[in-house]
Amino acid sequence: VGVVTAAASPAQTTQELAQGELAKLQAYRSSDEYLREPWRPRVHFTPERNWMNDPNGLVFYRGEYHLFYQHNPLGIDWGHMSWGHAVSRDLMHWEPLPIALWEEGDEMIFSGSCVVDHRNTSGFGTAENPPLVAVYTSHRPGNQSQSLAYSTDAGRTWTKHAGNPVIDLDIAEFRDPKVFWHAPTEKWVMVVALSAAKRVQLYGSPDLNEWRLLSEFGPAGVEGKSNWECPDLFELPIVDSRGEATDETRWVLEADFGGGGVGGGSGNEYFVGRFDGNQFTCDDPQRRSQQVDYGRDFYAPVTWSDLPAEDGRRVWIGWMTNLQTNGTPTSPWRSAMTIPRSLTLRETGSGLRLAQAPVRELESLREDAVDGTNAAVRGKQLDIVLEVTPDAGRPLVLHVLEGPDETTRLVYDPVDETLSVDRRDAGFDEFHDAFAGVYPAPIALDEGRLRLRVVVDRSSVEVFAQDGVAVLTTLVFPGPESDGVRLDAPGAEVHRFTAWPLRSALTER
Ligand code: FRU
Repeated sequence: VGVVTAAASPAQTTQELAQGELAKLQAYRSSDEYLREPWRPRVHFTPERNWMNDPNGLVFYRGEYHLFYQHNPLGIDWGHMSWGHAVSRDLMHWEPLPIALWEEGDEMIFSGSCVVDHRNTSGFGTAENPPLVAVYTSHRPGNQSQSLAYSTDAGRTWTKHAGNPVIDLDIAEFRDPKVFWHAPTEKWVMVVALSAAKRVQLYGSPDLNEWRLLSEFGPAGVEGKSNWECPDLFELPIVDSRGEATDETRWVLEADFGGGGVGGGSGNEYFVGRFDGNQFTCDDPQRRSQQVDYGRDFYAPVTWSDLPAEDGRRVWIGWMTNLQTNGTPTSPWRSAMTIPRSLTLRETGSGLRLAQAPVRELESLREDAVDGTNAAVRGKQLDIVLEVTPDAGRPLVLHVLEGPDETTRLVYDPVDETLSVDRRDAGFDEFHDAFAGVYPAPIALDEGRLRLRVVVDRSSVEVFAQDGVAVLTTLVFPGPESDGVRLDAPGAEVHRFTAWPLRSALTER
């Protein structure tokens, strides 16, 4: 009997190839095994299976926060880039949705953004049902160009625009468009990276289809950096040094680079300035940048579009990794997002600084508070507040995820005036030589006080110091018994030391 076996057809699409993966995903989800994985974050977003990198297409639409992300539907390493998708009503509990944009033929779907086209300028929807429009980079061998896709059913299904690409400069390194509506000049504005040239370009459009170059911005001090990508440009309110609102605003231009970061490997920087609808002008005539995060594991943050105006807030989320050490030892998923963070610009002794704070919704996951000054604190998911006057001559150490043989140390050194995260003894680090290390941030005390907010979630520690003016985001892979918290602060005066265990946002969904 002749049996004809079909060879895998070369015409099989990534979507077809992913059917097997989807079956595994269903089985995995219903086993709820992922709820018990030791390193799976409980309050940070992770894909249930497979690889994730940058957050993409962040948009708020009809009560839902959309989070798309760079995703390999076929495996745990980078490849076959497509847009994964999840939605949330509170930025904490995420509902996974099917893949929104698939790799197709020789086109991978690289990073980009989403907007609500309220006036239906694109013509992809109607005035009554404004479309969601995704603007993303089409990556092909030797070419990166900007393309569109749209949805008229609240992001559940997507159609790639027949007229793609909408901007093609015929170059290889041109990516990561972030688009927003600029009301004063009544047009769409795109900021996009000429990645190898370490510059950004700004484009303007009446309808998301026709784009014209408005200006370019190139910073000082990029010589040591390998490239520029994932830019964002947004306006922020200024708060004074006490955190009180002022009626002033400024614009922030943020960009990421693959090598040359403060802690080694990848990093990010921001510039404070003004934007007139056509051009970004840095307040500092030297165009010097500031550090976004002093930890090693913060990359490609982007802000949400179209957040409710009555809320008046700007929120971003980043990919919690360093490009140098992103082969992290988790399975069958890889990579987590940060906690979504609210942003302001804060007046400090050294000028305006970006201030980041976990969004208020995190507090909804808090269980009863433990007063660390008279009770032992333990936990692998914690929200900790510490306010202390350090001894003038001796360092203080806050240990988290401490076990019999390991600990993650947050060290304030009053002589150097630095706050460091030390993960040299934090747990499993053999997967990469550059993973273990100490990462310092310069910290000026405020009337002698150090104020810390620390979010611990299984395999990450995010430290917000001095009201979020300095942030350190760090991954760690501790052993199963490491859940201790201990303040070792000889000679210090502790004003407040409170910890809230955090409920899992996974089990609640
Ligand atoms: C940053 C990045 C982007 C690109 C995407 C591809 O991590 O390299 O510049 O669009 O990842 O996955």
